[in-house]
Amino acid sequence: MADLKKEIEAIKQSCLSELTIAETERDIKDIRHRYLGRKSRLNSILRSIKDIPPDERPLIGSLANKVREELEKATSESINRVIKSSVSTSPDLTLPTRPYRIGRSHIITRTTNEIVSLLERVGFEVALGCEIETPYYNFEALNMPDDHPARDIQDTLYLVDGTLLRTHTSPVQIRYMETHKPPIRMIAPGRVYREENIDASHLPMFYQLEGLMVDKGVRFSDLKGILEYVAKRLFSKDLKTRFRPSFFPFTEPSAEMDVECPHCRGRGCNVCGYTGWIEILGAGLVHPYVFESVGYDRYDVSGFAFGMGIERIAMARHKIDDIRVFYQSGVRFLTGL
Ligand code: PHE
Repeated sequence: MADLKKEIEAIKQSCLSELTIAETERDIKDIRHRYLGRKSRLNSILRSIKDIPPDERPLIGSLANKVREELEKATSESINRVIKSSVSTSPDLTLPTRPYRIGRSHIITRTTNEIVSLLERVGFEVALGCEIETPYYNFEALNMPDDHPARDIQDTLYLVDGTLLRTHTSPVQIRYMETHKPPIRMIAPGRVYREENIDASHLPMFYQLEGLMVDKGVRFSDLKGILEYVAKRLFSKDLKTRFRPSFFPFTEPSAEMDVECPHCRGRGCNVCGYTGWIEILGAGLVHPYVFESVGYDRYDVSGFAFGMGIERIAMARHKIDDIRVFYQSGVRFLTGL
């Protein structure tokens, strides 16, 4: 009797230890077959209970039944375990993928990158400035003294410590010239800020791309050549561009470049303010005062500078009639146009 009891315990232990190392459902079913099947030792013990002396029968019988129940439970738990782990470690590779949306760079980023690579091809190098500037870099060094109207609190967003959000990318010209010697071919894309009433063509934050070339004997025709090269590649061949005389304190002479309004083809509409043209940049030859403020010899070198409005260029290229859409319908601009 003691031997039978021991044997049942041993069956139990051996079955449980086999179950703990079983890895597949098939292994477990095989264990169940060997330990609990019709031809198993436990089954034969249960079937021969009647041959055991009556006083030992209840004890052995209940022990064998208890062990059988425990092992049934342990095997089904093991099966659950391997099913669960096989689900998490081996996904069904034949299933179709879930549909997902492919993103892309914002149209302002793409336009900027395109202009940057056009200018890199002709020797310009990208420089970065700061969005928070001092009045010196944003105004004074660019020949805009304290009483200049562009410094009006209406136009400029000042911070509490007297610094300001740059109103244009031109301060990068100064920072770059302070740390580099001519010859210079520099471009600086980035955000600029102005106190503006928001409408279809104005935002308090927009993007510019500054350009600066300084060397011996740089002429206005060099500026025109570079800008026409960029414009020809950005706009369709038949879209006209024009140069208009203008004024900036840091360039002399100064000009603005317009492109024919693609919405009305020059006839005049609300996008171009009924002028037939969209202004895309300001430019000119670097003012001698600017060279002096960075310590360059104004008689030795000359140069040109330009500042492009990225949103305006993107609007003209893609027939977008409201600047606000760039920053409202983010998802549409990021999934394609
Ligand atoms: N900084 C000028 C603006 O924001 C543009 C400009 C840049 C004009 C460089 C001339 C030269 O309007």
